[in-house]
Amino acid sequence: MANVIVIGAQWGDEGKGKITDLLSRSADVVVRPQGGVNAGHTIVVQGQTFKLHLIPSGILYPETECIIGSGTVIDPKVLLEELQQLKNLNVATDNLFISQTAHVTMPYHRLLDQASEQRRGEKKIGTTGRGIGPTYADKSERTGIRVVDLINPDELKEKLEWTINYKNVILEKLYNLDPLDPQVVIEEYIDYAEQLKPYVVDSSLKIYEAIQQKKNILFEGAQGTLLDLDHGTYPYVTSSNPIAGGACVGSGIGPTVVDRVIGVAKAYTTRVGEGPFPTELHGEIGEQLCDRGAEFGTTTGRRRRCGWFDGVIGRYAVRVNGLDCLAITKLDVLDELAEIKVCVAYDLDGKRCDHFPSNASEFARCTPIYETLPGWQQSTENCRKLEDLPKEALDYLKFLAELMDVPIAIVSLGASRDQTIIVEDPIHGPKRALLTSNQ
Ligand code: GDP
Ligand code: IMO
Ligand code: MG
Repeated sequence: MANVIVIGAQWGDEGKGKITDLLSRSADVVVRPQGGVNAGHTIVVQGQTFKLHLIPSGILYPETECIIGSGTVIDPKVLLEELQQLKNLNVATDNLFISQTAHVTMPYHRLLDQASEQRRGEKKIGTTGRGIGPTYADKSERTGIRVVDLINPDELKEKLEWTINYKNVILEKLYNLDPLDPQVVIEEYIDYAEQLKPYVVDSSLKIYEAIQQKKNILFEGAQGTLLDLDHGTYPYVTSSNPIAGGACVGSGIGPTVVDRVIGVAKAYTTRVGEGPFPTELHGEIGEQLCDRGAEFGTTTGRRRRCGWFDGVIGRYAVRVNGLDCLAITKLDVLDELAEIKVCVAYDLDGKRCDHFPSNASEFARCTPIYETLPGWQQSTENCRKLEDLPKEALDYLKFLAELMDVPIAIVSLGASRDQTIIVEDPIHGPKRALLTSNQ
């Protein structure tokens, strides 16, 4: 048995949903530790596409318990829509559990997120506008509403009356917006609470019991390493901790329980929203990656910025997450290219820089130093074993493994479950070198 954390090793949208779904067949429990409805995880099974924002990507397996953990922020309206969407597709949702200590995203959080972005103008973060920052800000300010408050009507009324009157001052005076009517919001949220109450549990205890029963637990990170509030490209980050350590905090478990950490990375790089992106491609190749990779946000539909693989960021992800291995996704998107560049280091003010600079203004001045590899110019989407891959594609993967000094456990060559090469099953396999540069 193994307890495994799956995290995004870049700026999000690496294909965590696909990889979590794939590994969930060996998992008894899947936990979503952090983030909110800013996330959009896509799973494609037998031609059917599922887009999940909050519900863990293990939900398609009826026996697997899915837990929305304490470190998440929950928008009840979106969660209920997501539940309905799954029910419409005949997916059972009785195995879903919601942490009572997760925080609740309220209408004022969304309004404040959008209004503050507008006010920032050119300095905007490019948030998803889903109220994530303001919900986490209230959590830190200790004025947040938790799920346990939501499902207790008296508690909810008292807290919301006070909070909405307080938020109305900001909405009206600072942003010139209409105030919210506390009674309308209270009624709406009491209705949501009634629908969600059957799912609410003490999630840390539930996970602990699963650990004691030696169950396989998968922790499905949202967002990605470079969007981490503490270790990402601040201020162009989200407001939670998507790195592996955040999965422990968000689930309420100790780090000793974790057996493995898998980083998911695309074979190139994408980013949605604002902020520096050294390997970003502005010309034809960037367009090609975007089109072939269908790089449009799952949550907002925004076009994702595309660029070459960035090995400096990759090495950084290995460091801050303690990665054991990688899942490389979307290799097929590179199929048509004659040559492929990989950033191996940065040039910072005329000097070579091998490590991600945690100083934001230095990072913004970094330009990539590339190595160029030959492309394979043939389809990989039907490859199912490493031996099926064209030599250049295998060499490309080995190059990435060497550059980041981390083995590759999984290679993904398409959105469907079966379009995958499992070099070694990270849940059942022994902890040893997988695809490395020496093979
Ligand atoms: P997540 O947020 O990390 O779960 O990733 P998203 O679901 O937001 O974005 C990844 C997109 O790539 C989704 O549309 C997936 O269906 C798709 N995808 C995942 N793996 C592959 C792959 O190997 N090849 C291709 N072409 N698409 C993939
Ligand atoms: P998944 O889980 C990609 C980005 C936003 C913005 C920044 C802050 O699907 O990988 P926020 O709304 O969180 O305050 O926005 O973070 N962002 C994501 N980018 N994938 C995500 O999630 C993201 N969640 C947030 O675009 O740049
Ligand atoms: Mg996504």
